[in-house]
Amino acid sequence: SWTAGSIVEEQVAAIRAQVGEKRAICGLSGGVDSAVAAALVQRAVGDQLTCVYVDHGLMRQGETEQVEKDFVAATGVQLKVVDAEKRFLDALAGVSDPEQKRKIIGREFIRVFEQAQAELVAEAGEEGAEVAFLVQGTLYPDIVESGGGTGTANIKSHHNVGGLPEDLEFELVEPLRQLFKDEVRMVGQELGLPEEIVQRQPFPGPGLGIRIVGEVTRERLDLLRAADAVAREELTAAGLDREIWQCPVVLLADVRSVGVQGDGRSYGHPVVLRPVSSEDAMTADWSRLPYDVLARISTRITNEVPDVNRVVLDVTSKPPGTIEWE
Ligand code: XMP
Repeated sequence: SWTAGSIVEEQVAAIRAQVGEKRAICGLSGGVDSAVAAALVQRAVGDQLTCVYVDHGLMRQGETEQVEKDFVAATGVQLKVVDAEKRFLDALAGVSDPEQKRKIIGREFIRVFEQAQAELVAEAGEEGAEVAFLVQGTLYPDIVESGGGTGTANIKSHHNVGGLPEDLEFELVEPLRQLFKDEVRMVGQELGLPEEIVQRQPFPGPGLGIRIVGEVTRERLDLLRAADAVAREELTAAGLDREIWQCPVVLLADVRSVGVQGDGRSYGHPVVLRPVSSEDAMTADWSRLPYDVLARISTRITNEVPDVNRVVLDVTSKPPGTIEWE
């Protein structure tokens, strides 16, 4: 049977054998998986790894700063931050279909990585650094649910599995492919990553792009970011972070309803709270959050976020619902 220590040992050896003297880049998303994958590869090949954090404009409030601060402080890894907001939002303009959004986001990620690769090679100058590998924090459930498991229907294309372009220039390094989330957390702990990273709730690579039902625009992202920040703040203040697996906040951008706010009629959008409890994200149940916490979140969001006049609670388990709405 395995232990976190034996997984680390085994994967470090496998990564060294795969990467050799070449270089690798790793996309950091701010989530646990990419952080642990990066830390493993760093343990294996040290400075041959450069992490790339793509700010695609689909991040939550404070996320970019947190990656820069927490992860780099903990690992000392070489980090490149790419501001790619315009690129992603342009590519997503006019697109409402969830699978199409996922494919576009996956494709743009790769294009940004390719650009980062070219820059790294140029920076390295004559010594000719070949950046041949792309590290991804793909987990076992990502593969199964993207249709990679034998005989499994494709549920949704995870941005790092089904969303990859066919002309990929990189060879993939995916040291977490056989693991579930709780195992990944143990490996992260074994590697000495801080609690704030290891215990962080999952957040999908496509970010808020798959939490806006309808077209993704900057204005809608700003609304959702504000609502999401309120929900996270209140859940943390209530001490519920460890109890719930994650709580997506979803903006129903194409839905409007009538309300009464301030002096008169409003015609705004609903946001959905989707708190779930789960062991591995393959199945989940909706979290029975205390009513007073729900009430505070609802009052604050409708007071503080313009254009949102309703907060609704998703009480669906998985299955039949998935955790994310798209
Ligand atoms: P679903 O919605 O499929 O989500 O029940 C299961 C878990 O996976 C996360 N998720 C993703 N993570 N890239 C990721 O890195 C993705 O494309 C993606 N889609 C969903 C989701 O947040 C949940 O934890």
